[in-house]
Amino acid sequence: MTKKVLVIGGSGFIGTNLIKKLVKEGEAVTSFDLHHSEYPVEGATYISGDFFDDENLERALEGMDAVYHCLSTVNPGNSNKRFMQGYSRDFVQSVHLFDLCIQKGIKVIFLSSGGTIYGVQKNQPIREDAECKPINHYGSVKLCIESVMRTFNTQTHSNMLIARISNPYGPGQDFHKGVGFVDAAVKKTLSHEPIEIWGDGTVVRDYIYIDDVVEMLYALLDYDGDQEVFNLSSNEGVSLNQVINSLKALGYTPQVTYKESRSVDVPAVVLDNEKIRTVYTGPLTSFDDGLEKYTNYLRINGWPND
Ligand SMILES: NC(=O)c1ccc[n+]([C@@H]2O[C@H](COP(=O)([O-])OP(=O)(O)OC[C@H]3O[C@@H](n4cnc5c(N)ncnc54)[C@H](O)[C@@H]3O)[C@@H](O)[C@H]2O)c1
Repeated sequence: MTKKVLVIGGSGFIGTNLIKKLVKEGEAVTSFDLHHSEYPVEGATYISGDFFDDENLERALEGMDAVYHCLSTVNPGNSNKRFMQGYSRDFVQSVHLFDLCIQKGIKVIFLSSGGTIYGVQKNQPIREDAECKPINHYGSVKLCIESVMRTFNTQTHSNMLIARISNPYGPGQDFHKGVGFVDAAVKKTLSHEPIEIWGDGTVVRDYIYIDDVVEMLYALLDYDGDQEVFNLSSNEGVSLNQVINSLKALGYTPQVTYKESRSVDVPAVVLDNEKIRTVYTGPLTSFDDGLEKYTNYLRINGWPND
């Protein structure tokens, strides 16, 4: 049956790609965002509004079956300076959103951060039951929000879901927003600009192609089991140097400048995806295939755009 789905932050990187998938699956989709979409999806309804305006938010939720919460006003790069914004605004308004959704019987899927919430972990790939030790306030705000969701779930028997996404990349991403090494590496290579790597390039991340992320998020829409938190990841560790080597293998000539390592970089984050793979059983894109798809996409769409 068609579901009425609200995507909060629907003009953003993940929101845009998610809306494409939801529309393709025949869901009735509304995007709620402060800004107009650069890539509007035919068949979706777009409403402009401010998440922090209670009236705007309540109106947007009217009649919805489900909500994807795809919005954060802080990122890993700026959250240590802007941490009060994260706690006083993102956190508080997310609690308000959950309360409204419980009152209205709306399912919630919250986009959390698998890349920052776990911090330094000895055991890799990291399972959802690992103790979370975020090393920045962005991850800590996400953990606070998750904690409230769990309390609501326990108290009210709501089944709000937490999607801890690793490191997505693909069409619609913009590394200038503060995250996205693959996006930066690909775009700088195509523009013949040097790529900066802090440290010796051995830092390992779990990169996941955006199409796989949205498949997993979509699979959670119908999930009604008793699990509340899922890693959305590739389960595959790729070092920064491997990203560079994969670009070379595709025939490009990336230029790299190595800089002193940063204390903010956790050496390795690879997320176990066994749980989500019981919910989304379709194929996953290998890193090399995803990188090729993305570089081709950018070239076809005229990158660099000057
Ligand atoms: N991109 C990643 O690498 C990544 C990884 C893990 C988790 N996440 C999480 O996924 C979610 C989406 O990430 P993204 O990369 O698509 O972010 P994004 O910055 O591309 O999109 C966020 C959207 O929220 C909108 N927005 C901001 N303030 C608003 C407000 N007050 N009212 C209404 N809309 C507002 C913005 O206009 C933007 O379109 C975020 O919660 C993020 O923390 C992202």
